[in-house]
Amino acid sequence: MSSMEIAKVGDIPAGRMKSFTADGKEILVFNYEGKFYAIGRYCPHLHGDLSQGKLEGKTITCPRHGSQFDITTGRCLVGPKIGPLKLSTKDDTMYAVEVEGQSLRIKI
Ligand code: FES
Repeated sequence: MSSMEIAKVGDIPAGRMKSFTADGKEILVFNYEGKFYAIGRYCPHLHGDLSQGKLEGKTITCPRHGSQFDITTGRCLVGPKIGPLKLSTKDDTMYAVEVEGQSLRIKI
């Protein structure tokens, strides 16, 4: 596993997110209360773009079918809902984020 710089700490203000491509992987990085977390950008259900989702606290909601994920763990909190169907989906992939000075590095 290697680590690579993806951004500077100041590039992602608190309460915001930003997407990156690192080593061919699409990653969404969050600044939650001054700590940085990274999950896969695309929803594990049917690849909804979580960067277009709604971020509330440490929960991101997929814009396609409403699955919700904890951005600090990648855990699926609420599964997708399609019409009357309530489904389940996998947890999202988590990536380790390191802060070195002003550099944000991600382990791939
Ligand atoms: S694609 Fe995200 S909930 Fe279906």
